[in-house]
Amino acid sequence: MKRRDFIKNTAALSAIAIFPSCQNTKPALDGRLRTAHIGVGGMGAEDLRAIASHDMVKVTALCDVDSNNLALARSLHPDAKIYRDYRVMLTELGDEIDAVIVSTPDHTHAPASMTAMQLGKAVYCQKPLTHHVSEARAMNKLAQEKNLVTQMGIQVHSFYDYKLATLLIQSGIIGKVKTVRAWSPKNWGYDGPAPEGSDPVPGNLNWNLWLGTAAERPYKKEIYHPGQWRKLMDFGCGTLGDMGVHIFDTPYNALALDVPKTITNNCRMPTGVGFPEHNVVTYEFPSTEYTTDNFKWVWYDGTGAPPAHEELQLPDNEELHDQGAMFIGEEGSLYLPHFMELPKLIVDGKYVTMDISAFDLEDPIRDYEIEGAKHYHQFVDACLGKGECSAPFSYASRLTETILLGVIAGRFPNQTLHWDSALAIFEEAEANEFLDGDYREF
Ligand SMILES: NC(=O)c1ccc[n+]([C@@H]2O[C@H](COP(=O)([O-])OP(=O)(O)OC[C@H]3O[C@@H](n4cnc5c(N)ncnc54)[C@H](O)[C@@H]3O)[C@@H](O)[C@H]2O)c1
Repeated sequence: MKRRDFIKNTAALSAIAIFPSCQNTKPALDGRLRTAHIGVGGMGAEDLRAIASHDMVKVTALCDVDSNNLALARSLHPDAKIYRDYRVMLTELGDEIDAVIVSTPDHTHAPASMTAMQLGKAVYCQKPLTHHVSEARAMNKLAQEKNLVTQMGIQVHSFYDYKLATLLIQSGIIGKVKTVRAWSPKNWGYDGPAPEGSDPVPGNLNWNLWLGTAAERPYKKEIYHPGQWRKLMDFGCGTLGDMGVHIFDTPYNALALDVPKTITNNCRMPTGVGFPEHNVVTYEFPSTEYTTDNFKWVWYDGTGAPPAHEELQLPDNEELHDQGAMFIGEEGSLYLPHFMELPKLIVDGKYVTMDISAFDLEDPIRDYEIEGAKHYHQFVDACLGKGECSAPFSYASRLTETILLGVIAGRFPNQTLHWDSALAIFEEAEANEFLDGDYREF
């Protein structure tokens, strides 16, 4: 089934059961937000912990295709109802839940989130928002149509250092920005052939539900679940979809970027199974009030930052952090290590002290659990009518689209692809088949 048919079918579901949108939904009688969690192992366990740490949350339902992960989550929330299949959970619980947290592998983000949003639920969805460009656009459209509270799981977006970097760039501290260079040594690539043979599916895993809308194939241990799926094109988005979303978020937000005009990925030719192992992706963007006319953004993964690059030298031969971003402006550079470190201003090869007293920011909290919870609590508060989310799907869909265009460019090594945002197509017709995907009925 094509993605668009799936979207039509879930639209029919919502036409039968008319649930109110989150803004109109009445939370539990005691005023708490009733949450349902899809995927509660790995990052889902962290999402569950952070959402549940808000006083006004009632964890109402837990869903996982792995019964071990489900049992562990339930031991922390014994009153929650438990499910293996998110479709059954969402249909059965209907108006007993207000918000859904989606923490599954990337290929299930859109199918699960779209189903929840069709039922009028607020959604917190992990990054990258989706696996395909078409899904990102569809998620944003539906969220707008239904006027839902939404947030993408890029918790560093709400951290002190990233907010400060955004304010500094927008204050013009380095003038207009010419280039951003960002890097990560992580390597979610895979050079090998398609897995052969099969292994017995462990008793704790429902393999059909794990595959969800992805094409059927035999289970192989240590290839897909848990976590390894992000190397494989059918399920993840490689290193760009993992660290790229986090590290790109601040430049994207600070420079008020839209989607890019051109994308070039200098990498080896992938085998079609996994992502290229080392990507150097250059994006050219339409200029904004914070950039020069020919602004570009360059991403390096696998080996991290190029060691001798003249724009990446730190004062006193200091070593670059293994992950981070450098804004290179007309009047200096702003260096932003990833993560929980202050941005640093470099002018003429020297660090320069910055006066940040004009910015209205609370002091940083150098504790990941407390700092990290802010992004989740912002979502809960917005669902309860207090304030707004800072990474709603209107923002997250554009950021994700940008990331996914770089992922697609990895299928066409060393070739510049031209993106027409208004038509949502590449000039290079051969790249367009990767904007969408087939959905298996499961
Ligand atoms: N924001 C962050 O800092 C951060 C960090 C790590 C991962 N992530 C994101 O979180 C998501 C999960 O990544 P992970 O590393 O935890 O993966 P994982 O494979 O370790 O865990 C995924 C969990 O979801 C469950 N699951 C899989 N398919 C499911 C389905 N159809 N229905 C219900 N449960 C299902 C799995 O059993 C497992 O418990 C990814 O999108 C990833 O990009 C975000």
